[in-house]
Amino acid sequence: MTTRTTRRWFLVAVNACLATALLAFGGTVVADTAPVADAGASSHTAAPVARPAPDRAAIASTHPLAAEAGMEILAKGGNAFDAAVAVAAAIGVADPKGAGLGGGGFFLLHQASDGRDVFVDAREVAPAAATRDMFLDAAGNPVPDLSTRSAKAAGIPGIPAALDHLATSYGRLPLAASLEPAIRLARRGFRNSPAMALENQLAYESEGSAGPVDSEFARVYLVDGKPPPAGYLIRQPDLAKSLEKLARSGAETFYRGSFQYQLVMAVRGLGGLWSLDDLANYLIVEREPIVATYRGLRIVSAPPPSSGGVWLACVLNTLSGYDRAKLDSATWKHLILEAMRRAHRDRAQYLGDPAFTNVPVAMLTSPDYAAGLRASIRPDKVTPSDMLPGYAGDAVEQPHTTHFSILDAEGNRVAATITLNGWYGARLVIPGTGILLNNEMDDFAMKPGAPNMYGLVGASANAIAPGRRPLSSMSPTFVESDRGLLILGSPGGSYIPSMVLLGILARQQGADAAAIAATPRFHHQYLPDATFAEPAAFTAEERADLERRGHTFRPWPEDIGNLQVVTWDYATGAVAAAADPRRAGAGLVR
Ligand code: DON
Repeated sequence: MTTRTTRRWFLVAVNACLATALLAFGGTVVADTAPVADAGASSHTAAPVARPAPDRAAIASTHPLAAEAGMEILAKGGNAFDAAVAVAAAIGVADPKGAGLGGGGFFLLHQASDGRDVFVDAREVAPAAATRDMFLDAAGNPVPDLSTRSAKAAGIPGIPAALDHLATSYGRLPLAASLEPAIRLARRGFRNSPAMALENQLAYESEGSAGPVDSEFARVYLVDGKPPPAGYLIRQPDLAKSLEKLARSGAETFYRGSFQYQLVMAVRGLGGLWSLDDLANYLIVEREPIVATYRGLRIVSAPPPSSGGVWLACVLNTLSGYDRAKLDSATWKHLILEAMRRAHRDRAQYLGDPAFTNVPVAMLTSPDYAAGLRASIRPDKVTPSDMLPGYAGDAVEQPHTTHFSILDAEGNRVAATITLNGWYGARLVIPGTGILLNNEMDDFAMKPGAPNMYGLVGASANAIAPGRRPLSSMSPTFVESDRGLLILGSPGGSYIPSMVLLGILARQQGADAAAIAATPRFHHQYLPDATFAEPAAFTAEERADLERRGHTFRPWPEDIGNLQVVTWDYATGAVAAAADPRRAGAGLVR
């Protein structure tokens, strides 16, 4: 694969150290003179064995039209990275409640030509005017809705930069070509499917109907004040114009050009904090993924500022010390829950943006550290979260986002989780652009120990600071073994790593793509001290047994989770794609 270096106007840092150096430099680096660093492969992220190409391509996405957009671009000669641009842009049109140009996200890439894995961090950053206590009132308490339903909730978006970067540095087609299906969908419109209407209605009922409704949001995204009904022709001419600008001038127009001024003025008009410099200084960071191993599987996942990869490594290392075959199923699930609890305690205590806080990744992902955690687990009894040492109470996450998984016929892969954070983000639209504001600032720990929209608590490692990336749970992941490849990820805020973990454990037991996507879910996040579970996750006997050990149960939140899975079996060459059977997505293989 050739790496094109033209028109990369924004900086791409190799790793967190360089990003730190750049930020410490005052964020005033002149892009034209800055080197564009090539994130070269390191030995630990190179794929262990070269494989023949799969010859078929697979895409799983939360909206069938977005998966089709990706397939269209592959058919036009694009690779998985061009397809990722097409799917991400089309999702912003077909399923705008979960992601879009006004949001951020993570793209985990694998280049088949050299086996290199790289993590493209397009997370939103806090504006320069952000302050640690900006969401607290005079008494030090969080002001209701300020971090979720106001323009102040919006971080500086990374998606436009990411799409340009993917096309320019990894793709084969011009950005404009890969954006074309999304532009068509926005301009000509499409009929809302019954499945998507139902999915969005459920989300609306559970979280979308409360609070005041912004008139521009209602004009662009609602029909009679509610999500569009089945069969409704959804046309988005403003968003089509914004996508056309991106296609014509690249992300430069968004961050440093004529569009930049329009966006900043409009967001300030809505009461937001964005400045021209905030957009001009936005950086994408290319990072080394987290790599873990578990019983013959090699797991490649998201590094900080996501907690996902560190959390997965910690839980899998903890579980490696137990022989599942010798355990009854209730004991096995008890151990999984206890490992989840401990890894979430560490998330709250240690994790944040690595450019601002020293995240002890080596410690948290070490098997020796996991052995220490294991020593504190009693097989017969829960450890109540408030008896776990470490978390000083000085540190807590929202539910709409999207994930897609892509494998092309050459073996290039993408696992991408992208987001606006809440349902349609802050539910504010930049007037005349169709662009929804994210509310990613809510992912910061706005007050030590105060729970955010996911009930997550957090520490000073995740406090608000200018230019900082809020801690994420998004966990786009590759899993490889001698048997084959699994690409997976999901929306679901703090529940994401648990769903990915259960997918990995199911894979280890031989599950196929459809079974992995359907795997019944359970989750523990340290606080609140409770097990969240789908009804099928535990038999009545297992549940009674776990209750005897001290576990308490709460229902799995209905609108959480949308796993998108692609698999490739090396022995048979079979390629499969599965969308979460609980939702309206699609898995396509061609
Ligand atoms: O970055 C995060 O962890 C959250 N902002 C993701 C939000 C999310 O997954 C909502 N999904 N249902």
